[in-house]
Amino acid sequence: MTDESVSEVAALFDLYQQGIAVHCVCAVARLGVPDLLADSPRRVGPLAAEVGADEDALRRVVRLLAGHALFTYTPENDEVGLTRRGRLLCGRHPMSLRATFATFGILDVAHGLTETIRTGRPATESVLGTGFWDHLTTRPREQQVFGEAMAEQARLLSLPCVPLLDWPVGETVADIGGGFGALIAAVLQEEPGARGILVDQPLVREHAEAFLEEQGVLARCTVQSGNLFDTPPPADMYLLSRVLHDWDDDAVAGILGAIRRTAPAGTRLRIFEDLLPEDGLPRPAQSWSDLVMMALYPGARERTLTDYRELLERADWVLDGVVEGPPGMNVIEATRK
Ligand SMILES: C[S@@+](CC[C@H](N)C(=O)[O-])C[C@H]1O[C@@H](n2cnc3c(N)ncnc32)[C@H](O)[C@@H]1O
Repeated sequence: MTDESVSEVAALFDLYQQGIAVHCVCAVARLGVPDLLADSPRRVGPLAAEVGADEDALRRVVRLLAGHALFTYTPENDEVGLTRRGRLLCGRHPMSLRATFATFGILDVAHGLTETIRTGRPATESVLGTGFWDHLTTRPREQQVFGEAMAEQARLLSLPCVPLLDWPVGETVADIGGGFGALIAAVLQEEPGARGILVDQPLVREHAEAFLEEQGVLARCTVQSGNLFDTPPPADMYLLSRVLHDWDDDAVAGILGAIRRTAPAGTRLRIFEDLLPEDGLPRPAQSWSDLVMMALYPGARERTLTDYRELLERADWVLDGVVEGPPGMNVIEATRK
């Protein structure tokens, strides 16, 4: 073997090993291990007992993740602690990614990708016995962690867009499929003269009310159970954040059409989504997100601005422009014809 092929084999094998490391991070996040290490390092035995884990198994996972700079581990006293990066797996960290790793999601259906590539359809039916949303709606605990993961990701993607935009004073902004309310809370904090409505599935409601209360905006925000495809309550402006990429084109037109049915001419709509380049290769993070959509939801995909313009026109909305957010996020502005 040449030196070059030796290093290529090492790089490829490294990629293979990283797959297991990611599953180990998900497992410790699900068990709540990092939260128990937030104050100080602990011995593995009592830690394993507290999270209900097998001591030997947990130690072996900890050792692996110490090699990925998430944990510290000292064999002399069998003590495990957190690195700065590992602290991001604690739920109380202001930039936490705990739920993003702990949530039921792409890694749980990834082993069905061969089927997805063959059929072009998510493997959720054969892996879970049902669609992804149906799986969550019958599992309150998993729905909760998924909602927390969405809030963590909204903090990175949608929330930095809020100060870049004007918000209507004395008017009502409705966030459709708004999850636990991270975005509408940030909007109401940015514009104290605005009122909010949050619409999402019934299981989300209780968590959303608690979150909005914690953010000090519940008095100005109504939380409603509702379906994306039903006519939403009247509002002056509608938000759809990271909702449309979960659906195929006909469903997107259906969601935009449902809002149109209630919105008089001149009503404004803001769509928070990543935009694929019109030409050339997407960034790796965009290809990753596009693949996650493909694996989880039928017909779901990341789209270009041209795609969104056409879908908006199909439902009688006019594209006004785009405000660029942080990498991975844009705000597409539209008005009802
Ligand atoms: C990807 S999450 C985005 C959440 C939030 N807007 C954000 O940016 O973090 C999609 C949201 O759509 C909601 N959703 C999915 N199907 C729905 C349906 N049929 N009716 C209402 N909401 C739905 C989910 O509960 C979830 O909160």
